[in-house]
Amino acid sequence: MKYRQFGRLDWQVSEIGYGMWGMAGWSNSDDNESLESLQHAVDLSCNFFDTAYAYGEGKSENLLGQIVRANSNKRLYTATKIPPRNRQWPAKSEHTLNESYPPDYVEEYVHRSLENAGLQNFDLMQFHTWNDEWMRDDRWFYKLDDLRSQKLIRAIGISINRWEPWNALRAVRSGQVDAVQVIYNIFDQNPEDELFPACRDMKVAVIARVPFDEGTLTGTLTKESTWPEGDWRNTYFVPENLIPSVERAEEIRKVLDNWNREHSTDITMPAAALRFILGNDDVSTIIPGMRKVRHVESNVAASEAGPLPGELYEQLRKFRWVRKPAPWSQ
Ligand SMILES: NC(=O)c1ccc[n+]([C@@H]2O[C@H](COP(=O)([O-])OP(=O)(O)OC[C@H]3O[C@@H](n4cnc5c(N)ncnc54)[C@H](OP(=O)(O)O)[C@@H]3O)[C@@H](O)[C@H]2O)c1
Repeated sequence: MKYRQFGRLDWQVSEIGYGMWGMAGWSNSDDNESLESLQHAVDLSCNFFDTAYAYGEGKSENLLGQIVRANSNKRLYTATKIPPRNRQWPAKSEHTLNESYPPDYVEEYVHRSLENAGLQNFDLMQFHTWNDEWMRDDRWFYKLDDLRSQKLIRAIGISINRWEPWNALRAVRSGQVDAVQVIYNIFDQNPEDELFPACRDMKVAVIARVPFDEGTLTGTLTKESTWPEGDWRNTYFVPENLIPSVERAEEIRKVLDNWNREHSTDITMPAAALRFILGNDDVSTIIPGMRKVRHVESNVAASEAGPLPGELYEQLRKFRWVRKPAPWSQ
């Protein structure tokens, strides 16, 4: 496993981190299998874990706490998120800071998350939604800064709304945040336009989330894919989204098949998705969602394999797809 500097902080985080949403919210999760996968990731030197209060109302945070305690001899970096008080994803322009993250509520949820995890502190506390208009009212910052001085958290982050990478530029430029979490993958390359240069200038860490586009970039979804009732992917992968996403993923598969045939290699879709992101030095860590040991093994191996060969990387860059938030996109 290779490590990267986490922005301006002196943390060395694994290039492949761990996304912990699925294990506490998506259908067909099995806690034993999730814990086994988390432990396997630790054994393979993964040291950055991203969870959130909203992932099972503390369930995912609890699983993280178990893993941290079981590995007290290792430095594991813990990141969680405060849910918006109005429980609205994403933050819309009409949602005020007061409606979403009033200071007392922020403090209450930092304590709730610590309790869920059974930890003394979290390394990174993130807002689970963001609206750059909130920069007009910096009570959010002073509250988190106060909790940082109490050593309940070590750093402050923002999780940027889906397909709005520009909607945190003011926060990044303010110097008040240590990290941003943003969707960045073969399709969603537009964080490179403005967000990454700003993060580079301000030494703000970048957490690349949703590396597999919620599944399509693993090559395992079809135009007919459905999920058990209650699984959020039924509302996200509406035909308007699923069909063009799968069609594009099928084109990527053809590019990889050709490449593998010509170069006698066996680069899989998930490996290509992660190695594509590793090609960007602005990224501090990638957090694939994983609930299975075999997925942990295959994803961690991407770090050793390293960025894609330049020619293949250029071919995949052509799959850039700029999408706009839609009623189903959350
Ligand atoms: N608003 C926010 O702040 C926000 C929103 C979304 C996500 N996130 C964070 O980002 C993380 C990653 O995003 P995500 O989990 O939504 O989506 P993702 O990482 O793009 O995709 C996860 C899916 O890929 C599958 N997968 C993983 N490795 C695989 C492999 N090697 N081969 C085949 N399939 C594989 C997983 O299966 P299994 O689960 O069965 O292993 C799961 O179905 C989340 O877990 C969460 O921590 C944050």
